Parts: sequence; structure tokens; C-alpha cells
Amino acid sequence: MAYALITGASGGIGLALARELAARKHDLLLIARSGQTLEKLASDIRQQYRVKVDILAMDLAAPNAAQAVFNWLQSSNYSVDILVNNAGFGSWGLYEEIPESEFQGMMQLNMVTLANLCRLLLPMLKKQEKAYILNVSSTAAYQAVPTLSLYAATKAFVLVLTRGLNWELQGTSVSASCLSPGPTTTGFIDRANLGRIKDRAEKFSMSAEAVANIAIKGMLAGKPEIIPGLTNWLSAKLAEIVPKGIPERIARNLYK
Ligand SMILES: NC(=O)c1ccc[n+]([C@@H]2O[C@H](COP(=O)([O-])OP(=O)(O)OC[C@H]3O[C@@H](n4cnc5c(N)ncnc54)[C@H](OP(=O)(O)O)[C@@H]3O)[C@@H](O)[C@H]2O)c1
Repeated sequence: MAYALITGASGGIGLALARELAARKHDLLLIARSGQTLEKLASDIRQQYRVKVDILAMDLAAPNAAQAVFNWLQSSNYSVDILVNNAGFGSWGLYEEIPESEFQGMMQLNMVTLANLCRLLLPMLKKQEKAYILNVSSTAAYQAVPTLSLYAATKAFVLVLTRGLNWELQGTSVSASCLSPGPTTTGFIDRANLGRIKDRAEKFSMSAEAVANIAIKGMLAGKPEIIPGLTNWLSAKLAEIVPKGIPERIARNLYK
């Protein structure tokens, strides 16, 4: 049986997506940097859901990370019918002040590895009777976000790439969906150095489990775009129709 490959599965939305798929009896391949956490989670998921789980501890922000994942799949003889590109992070601050390693790593992880994994795995996905790509973007993709400029731009890349793939793949056995969550209770805010808006964000936050449940249903329905939560959906759709300066000003005031 084919596996679901999930990046960034050691916590947050990635782990919730893994559990959601395991509950649907899907075997899993989990990737993140924290090997020990992954080992423990894999063992819990195997016990709870009676599915096969294997893990790969690696830094997906490293150059050629996607090729290394692909080599691992081939050498282990794994075939994949669900690719979830979830690993990603943001870093708050003025554009020129983002530390160099965060700056390069964010582009590599959020865009380059994601795009390469889609490209490398597509031939394998197309061999399946039915297969899915789920790329994780953000509501930040729908307008520029001052002080999260690079992050928002990487997520806009994911949104446009995935919508394009969805069109290209029509008539094949594969569908591509873009998941754009709004604030979600995970390690993201601390990782992004966004402690200053934590209280405010938490008021509007969804749980990772609720996001994952909506995401997997949308993915299985082949939806090109999945925006969980009415407030998130409304804010993303409004940003598409009002003059750009309005949502950008709101975003600037929210994050400064
Ligand atoms: N939470 C939100 O409010 C929110 C909103 C919109 C979109 N998102 C998006 O949702 C996705 C998941 O984020 P989250 O909220 O679940 O954040 P999280 O709790 O920080 O989880 C991020 C996951 O990615 C993994 N990861 C980070 N850097 C990695 C690297 N270099 N190589 C391999 N794995 C790496 C982490 O594991 P290790 O640390 O073990 O590597 C972890 O499993 C991201 O793409 C994020 O941009 C989040």
C-alpha cells in the first residue's frame, strides 16, 4: 500500500494532519528535524491507529533536501500517494534585519524544497489510481504583510504554484490543493518571534486538529484552495477584491 508523506510532522499542523490520515487508516512517512520526537510520535501513532509509520529526521532547509528525500523513498522502496508539504516557518522583523540563516532557510524550506518535492514525486503520484498533493500556505499569502514580508511572499508562491498545478493535473489521477490556515495554536508564533501578538492571535486561533480535519476533507475532494474557518475565509476573499492598500494597512497595524 502507498504511504502519505508529511513534512514538518513532529508537531503543530503537520502532526495533526498525520493523525487525521492515520485515523483514516493511511500508512505514514513522517519527516522533521527532531528525530527523537518523531520516533516517539511514530510509536504512539502505530499503537493508536494500527498503521505503518516510518520516519526520516532531516533538515529540509538544506540544499538538495528534496532529492535526499526522494533517494530515501527509492532506497526503501516506498511509494507515495499523498504528499503533504507542510514544513515551513516565518520570521518577524524588518526585511533587512532578518538573520541571514533565517532569510535563506525560509526561502529554501517554504519554497524550494516544496517545489522540488512536488516535481520529483509527480511521476510516482501519477502511477497511483488516485493521489493527492497538499501544500501548506497561509492567509498571509493573500496580501503583503509588512514585517512578515518574506514569509508572506513565500506563501503567495505556494498558493500560485499549487493553483497552477491543480489546473495542469486535471484529467490525471493527481489533484493539488493549497491549504491556507489563519492563526492556529502551534509552535509557529514562538518560532516566528511573534510573542508580541500572541494574546491577540490566540483569541482568533483555531486548533491544529480542526484545521487538519478540514484540510484532509478538502484535499480528498480535490479542492484547489482550502481556507479553514469563516473569519479566515472572509479576510482572504476580501483581500482579493478590495484595493490592496486596505488589507496591507490592516496587516501592518496588526504586526508592527
Ligand atoms: N500556526 C499558524 O498560525 C499558521 C498559520 C498559517 C500557516 N501556517 C503554516 O503551517 C505550517 C506548519 O506550521 P505550524 O504552525 O504547525 O508550525 P510548528 O508548530 O512550528 O511546526 C513546524 C513543523 O515543521 C518542522 N520543521 C521546521 N523547520 C524544518 C526544517 N528545516 N526541516 C524539517 N522540518 C522542519 C518542525 O519540526 P522540527 O522543528 O522537528 O524540524 C515542525 O514539525 C507552516 O508551513 C506554516 O507556515 C501556520
